Amino acid sequence: MAPRYILGISAFYHDSAACLLEDGAIVAAAQEERFTRKKGDAAFPLHAARYCLQAGGIAASQLAYVGFYDKPLLKFERILETYLGVAPRGFGQFRIAGPLWMKEKLFLDREIRRALGYEGEILYAEHHESHAASAFFPSPFEQAAILTVDGVGEWATASFGAGRGNDFELLQELHWPDSLGLLYSAFTYYTGFKVNSGEYKVMGLAPYGEPNYVDVIYRTLIDLREDGSFTLNQEYFNYLTGLTMTNGAFDRLFGGPPRVPESKLTQREMDLARSVQVVCEEVMLRMVRTLHRETGMDNLCLAGGVALNCVANGRILREGPFRRLWIQPAAGDAGGALGVAQLIWHRYCKQPRNVAPGRDGMQGAYLGPAFSPQEIEAYLVSQGAPYERLERGCLLRQAARLLADEKVVGWFDGRMEFGPRALGARSILGDPRSPRMQAQMNLKIKFREGFRPFAPSVLRERAGEYFELACDSPYMLLVAPVKQERQIPMSDEHRRLWGIEQLNVVRSDIPAVTHIDYSARVQTVTRDTNPNYYDLITEFDRLTGCPVLVNTSFNVRGEPIVCTPADAYRCFMRTNIDYLIVGPFLLDKTQQPEWKESEDWKREFQLD
Ligand SMILES: [Fe+2]
Repeated sequence: MAPRYILGISAFYHDSAACLLEDGAIVAAAQEERFTRKKGDAAFPLHAARYCLQAGGIAASQLAYVGFYDKPLLKFERILETYLGVAPRGFGQFRIAGPLWMKEKLFLDREIRRALGYEGEILYAEHHESHAASAFFPSPFEQAAILTVDGVGEWATASFGAGRGNDFELLQELHWPDSLGLLYSAFTYYTGFKVNSGEYKVMGLAPYGEPNYVDVIYRTLIDLREDGSFTLNQEYFNYLTGLTMTNGAFDRLFGGPPRVPESKLTQREMDLARSVQVVCEEVMLRMVRTLHRETGMDNLCLAGGVALNCVANGRILREGPFRRLWIQPAAGDAGGALGVAQLIWHRYCKQPRNVAPGRDGMQGAYLGPAFSPQEIEAYLVSQGAPYERLERGCLLRQAARLLADEKVVGWFDGRMEFGPRALGARSILGDPRSPRMQAQMNLKIKFREGFRPFAPSVLRERAGEYFELACDSPYMLLVAPVKQERQIPMSDEHRRLWGIEQLNVVRSDIPAVTHIDYSARVQTVTRDTNPNYYDLITEFDRLTGCPVLVNTSFNVRGEPIVCTPADAYRCFMRTNIDYLIVGPFLLDKTQQPEWKESEDWKREFQLD
């Protein structure tokens, strides 16, 4: 008999998570950081696992299997061999992928059993197998080529695969220390951002710069081959044995030490960001061309941390050889929890896979906790927070009206998203037509760097009126150009402005979501996965003729996305969000009692 419940776990590296399957379908998935409020929390995902069990209405004893997303022994071997200086140096050619199942008997078994109160079997998959499983199994494709690219797991840093029906095989791998993720992270570190989370900022900064360092990167740092494999020149990096990503040789190559975090950004950082982005896109494009040649397939699935590089994804879609592209929304290591669970279901238990054409298995990525109106109201009452309860139509109309009046609205509705992007369940929303919105939301609401772009949510059916995008982008993982006819060309005077100053130049009729290079990181919204959000945008369109909203994650810089009504209310009160909609309740900032902020929080987020 098929096992009913399988729990997948990803932990101890970055972004721990848990995922529960019931009869192969995803019941729940969530990242530990959302519960512990520690960004990228890598601890054992006890809270996330408990939530998953609760969502399934089961006890740990009812689990048939627990799966762990990588093989700690292999990872340990890599770390040890690197430390001892005996790691086999690859020559950048792709290798044949390693063995499949391994049942590890380790301290980890004990730890998992103790934490969960679970006595059954624990299975381990390889890191890139988990990524590949998370890319292929929930995809809307019966057959697809698979590409996973990240920093590193055990040994692999990228893998090629081919999926058919209920299984896939990994064909080739690239191995540590030749890693595209780590090359990108090295530049993230060097430009003064945090490794593992700041990569996104580098990507956002890139359009402000010129690709002046591309040649030197190719000449000195990376030996890139036609097939997309490469060797990194380790003389310039320090991640093998040191505590930093780059070393003195890297500093000399790029004319000085790394930027001090939080210090002023200069043209050098922008040019470096642009240059590493260009190289990253080229490597990815070569990889997908090779993968296409070798598999001859039409569809491509992506996962691994580098698959969050939505600028590269957009180019793969537009310029690559594959006809269709699907990207796992939790492409980073959190998604490994989902991958290993599905791997157990399909490969280990040999269960079939039912693909509904045109529809993926992620349920819009709304796989986290939801809260009933009673729970929300009880919290608001406990805070003495004045609120108004509105029926659905009235709430949506009022919210659309507030947005059209350039108010910033915190939007908390339904199940929390799985993965790094807010998709209209835990979002802060604004009017994309407003020329002031980008600066206002960056500085007064998110307390983050002014250069960072915001993303648009657009009704799926209307996306073609605004963006050069030939497919759905439900998870905000594709960057596409804003339609030519909506662009406002820069004057000579504007062009002379320095880097970040160009941000305030209105570049389209939706300036708040149009990046400096006329691109946008699009989320296409469908009614079947999120009817409330879809209907809200429809109301906004009815009022304004614009079926687009600014959608940014509901959090401030450095903080995980809000999970509970309490997190949402705190974030609302700490920032200049004007209105909060939490379930059926509307809260007006001007009517709230005074918020007493802790000194620690004020220091951390530099509020006065
Ligand atoms: Fe990974």
